[in-house]
Amino acid sequence: MENILKEFERDQKELIHILHRVQEEFGYVSPPAISAIAKHLKISENEIYSVLTFYKAFSLEPRGKHIVTVCMGTACHVRGAPRLVDDASREMGVDVGQTTPDKHFTLETVNCLGCCAIGPVVVVDGKYHSYVKRMDSIIKEYSEGR
Ligand code: FES
Repeated sequence: MENILKEFERDQKELIHILHRVQEEFGYVSPPAISAIAKHLKISENEIYSVLTFYKAFSLEPRGKHIVTVCMGTACHVRGAPRLVDDASREMGVDVGQTTPDKHFTLETVNCLGCCAIGPVVVVDGKYHSYVKRMDSIIKEYSEGR
């Protein structure tokens, strides 16, 4: 953590950059990391928590190796997204927002990714899968090493 903080000036304007860097390095922003950042920038931990909870890009808990995001926006919803969420949830054994015990998958949903014409859309680790009909093949594709 100290090595990361050394990359940034002790300026509150650096907060978002530091949080992104920590998220990138550890996959989430832990309570000890929050304390260290607060000390480094001389701001309160509460200020950091409010930023962390405002932006969906940050996680306060460890996430899986693969982030599976099912779009639940209106267009994807009417094309079967709820069933995809149910199937993914059953395949992984977790609810939306949770990570599998082996930390392999995290299941999330989002409200519209801005590409409704190719829905239903599922994004895994930033890769878009369009016109998705089944989740089992997608999950199998990312299950290697599990
Ligand atoms: S509703 Fe899914 S991309 Fe817009």
